[in-house]
Amino acid sequence: MNPVKIEPIVYQEVDEIIRKYTDEKTPLLAILQDISLKWGYLPRDVMGYVAQKLDIPAARIWGVATFYSFFETKPVGKYVVRVCKSAPCHVLGATNVLETLVRELGIQVGETSKDGKFTLQATSCLGVCGVSPAMMINNATYGNLCEERIREVLSQFA
Ligand code: FES
Repeated sequence: MNPVKIEPIVYQEVDEIIRKYTDEKTPLLAILQDISLKWGYLPRDVMGYVAQKLDIPAARIWGVATFYSFFETKPVGKYVVRVCKSAPCHVLGATNVLETLVRELGIQVGETSKDGKFTLQATSCLGVCGVSPAMMINNATYGNLCEERIREVLSQFA
């Protein structure tokens, strides 16, 4: 995905998002979620604009954006593969899961494939420890992963 070009239309779209939450006491998270849904990540310039509009320090917005693992602060692929690396998944083979994905996708952790299709990330608990080791691809969760299961899951995104 290419970085967002800040043009008048982008500002209008951000204004519309902000307007949706004018009655909220703490609208920041909801605004960031909408922006993230729209562009797939939180562009730095857009965050600066939100800071200006809400009259809050840009550093605070950036702090929120980087605190939550579900926010991206740079462009990502069409499919974001998040592999849990927390203790239960680690014990049950998260390292093998990551190695398999690195091999299958041809990218390292933190990278996006050249065709813009996949981004691979290691993350903390996904909340499905009962089916460790686990990963998410966009909003879908996959558990009990082994090499064969990973290949089977990836084939759905071919
Ligand atoms: S520890 Fe991996 S999903 Fe919870």
